[in-house]
Amino acid sequence: MDAFRRRVGGFAFGGDYNPEQWDRSVWQEDMRLMREAGVNTVSLGVFAWASLEPEPGRYEFGWLDEIMDLLHDHGVSVNLATPTAAPPVWLTQLHPEVFPIMADGQPFGFGNRLHYDPSSPIYRDHAARITTKLAERYSFHPALAMWHISNEYGPTAYNEAASVNFRRWLQRRYGTLEALNDAWTTRFWGQVYTDWEQIEVPNIPRTWMNPARRLDFKRFTSDALLECYLAERDIVRSFRDDIPVMTNFMRFFRHADYWKWAPEEDAVALDIYPNPAEPDSHVSAAFNYDLFRSLKGGQPWMLMEQAASAVSQWKLNVVKEPGRMRLGSLQAVSRAADSVMFFQWRAGRGGHERFHSAMLPHSGPDSRTFREVTDLGRELKLLAPVAGTTQRAQVAILFDWDGWWGLEEVAGLPRNDFSYTDTVMRHYTPLWERHLPVDVVSATSPLDGYQVLVVPNAYLIGDEGVARIEAFARDGGTVVMSFFSGVVDDCNRVRPGGYPGAFRRLIGAKIDEYWPARPHEVFAVEFADGRRATATWWRDDLHLETGRALATYADGLLAGRAAVVENQYGAGRVVYVATLLEQAALDAVVADAVERAGVRSRFEGVPAHVECSVREDAAHEYVFLLNHSADESASVPLDGGTDLLTGLPVSGQVVLGPLGAAVVQVARA
Ligand code: GAL
Repeated sequence: MDAFRRRVGGFAFGGDYNPEQWDRSVWQEDMRLMREAGVNTVSLGVFAWASLEPEPGRYEFGWLDEIMDLLHDHGVSVNLATPTAAPPVWLTQLHPEVFPIMADGQPFGFGNRLHYDPSSPIYRDHAARITTKLAERYSFHPALAMWHISNEYGPTAYNEAASVNFRRWLQRRYGTLEALNDAWTTRFWGQVYTDWEQIEVPNIPRTWMNPARRLDFKRFTSDALLECYLAERDIVRSFRDDIPVMTNFMRFFRHADYWKWAPEEDAVALDIYPNPAEPDSHVSAAFNYDLFRSLKGGQPWMLMEQAASAVSQWKLNVVKEPGRMRLGSLQAVSRAADSVMFFQWRAGRGGHERFHSAMLPHSGPDSRTFREVTDLGRELKLLAPVAGTTQRAQVAILFDWDGWWGLEEVAGLPRNDFSYTDTVMRHYTPLWERHLPVDVVSATSPLDGYQVLVVPNAYLIGDEGVARIEAFARDGGTVVMSFFSGVVDDCNRVRPGGYPGAFRRLIGAKIDEYWPARPHEVFAVEFADGRRATATWWRDDLHLETGRALATYADGLLAGRAAVVENQYGAGRVVYVATLLEQAALDAVVADAVERAGVRSRFEGVPAHVECSVREDAAHEYVFLLNHSADESASVPLDGGTDLLTGLPVSGQVVLGPLGAAVVQVARA
């Protein structure tokens, strides 16, 4: 990636480019306007299979040769896509079995994209063939700077080929049928398997599902998609191994375990469309940026797609008001993105996304969006020294796909309306509002170097994850954990010894029963210092062992019993929240735990809507100050350094207008 950064001179800036949708006269204008906007990189050919191979075995590379040359002549690097996210119609006619069978038993059909079963050997053969052709032809083209493998891997398929592949996957995982029957608790409802051939993908959506089988199917689907990625990656690498390879991931995407995928990428890349109509969408964006930085252990990541203004995929697609796109782009950069890329360069005339904004909108270059894009391109050049730098955090938050699937993929829980991402965001928000840098960790990530670990609703967690969390606390770390954690093992089986099986010693309490609340039930909670708050949705019937109550219920059948527990565990401290506290009260619990752990933000007192974060390298810190308020100005005390966006020295304070931003370079002493 260092070579890539050098090649683009810092930040990659550009977007998806679909010249196959336009005639050549437009290409010339594209080149001119890309130069005007400062575009240095495009993602090319993402869905172009039908244009590259209009009939089986008949290739048309002429147009791609021409545009690759043209881009190169204009100083634009190419992130060349394998077009395998959109198999051509002839392929699906010849082999209808490549269509994914959906959960309702119906084939996906033609007319959208991502219409493939990732386990289909036919799909995989054809994908390998077109990938090989592209790699043969373009691996040494001077415009090639990166490989973009397929697009947003995601289909779940219930085909026969998926069943065959699932069985193979299960044989690798369990070895024997006995082990599988045990892991899946198949004595329940007499589901015992006596032959591998009896096992199929769990395609019975209208009924209740064996929770371990369903969980393994999620793991399998993620792995089947990953196999497709790896096959194409290995083909392009076999021609040349010094070109970075990536695929584009999505925000809060449930169907692929990105912790498993990330090590296979040269850079992780995110497509994200924060909804401008949602007031807090920038906070969940921040979480996803932290996740993406963390996926490869703190390395810079790539913002691969965002919208210049409105999208077209929702019921209501509002524009980004003036300044919002710039601020959102700088926000990604502030959390270690090394690129700002868009979907797409030029707004399309037809097709489903004809009203999706683009760097170059339908109204042409004389437009607000194009001016904002051009200004951003100029500003990113000023920020070039920031590229390649990273971020450090003392607080980590657990985010794990197994845990997510355990909570949301199968019924049969005490309540069945959990939202893992909402819970994670409830715990992340107080940290974000206090300008505390946060890394995201998986259940099996190393935890050295962190002072605080936040564990939101880790219902399903394997033994290794449990041991890591215990060791972290024992060695002096602070753990903040929320209810319904540590309940089942990685086969979705209740852990023995009373709830919360895995964490009973850690939290210093035993839970007799889980008490989901009735609709509209509200409970009063009183903290040891007299503060009162409300709680809803859930209570643990909790009995203290070594722990002590930080807060108790003030009413209801559990009056006087602990709602928030603190426990000394080894040299560490554990805070366990046994109910759904109102947000302000949860904020206070999280903030207090962090403060008592000795972690402080250097931006204490700065209002929450001014996002503050720091990228750094050995020589400099880069302080990003981003005012998310569209109405209020803000001033942040800061002494020394130079605002790279204005070139002006900073002394005493930085004043930010509504939606204003500053990026202050401070030399290390
Ligand atoms: C992404 C996709 C792009 C485009 C974009 C629209 O998910 O990769 O091709 O569809 O969404 O926002």
